[in-house]
Amino acid sequence: MSSKKMSIKVCDIPSCHNVPNNTLRIAIKEAIKEYNLEDKLEYVKNGCTGHCTPFVFIEDGDDRYLYADLTPEKVKRIIKEHVLEGKPVAELGGKF
Ligand code: FES
Repeated sequence: MSSKKMSIKVCDIPSCHNVPNNTLRIAIKEAIKEYNLEDKLEYVKNGCTGHCTPFVFIEDGDDRYLYADLTPEKVKRIIKEHVLEGKPVAELGGKF
């Protein structure tokens, strides 16, 4: 894992018709606070990529990960395991 700040991108279009992303946004912000990751993980607003499924991108140094079909619980797990512990969650996504 890089010592550079990581970023997590999620669709942040107010009219996003992918309703679960609203809950993902809340869960991401809660997890950043809960795990004290303000200096390590940057929340980045993303436009619609056309996927329109509950997903996030994580940029970790030069590596980009896509995690999809998420729930608030799954995104919190990704933040804990990937960002906090440095262990990408292979069963939920991977590099692309
Ligand atoms: S408009 Fe939000 S994911 Fe497409």
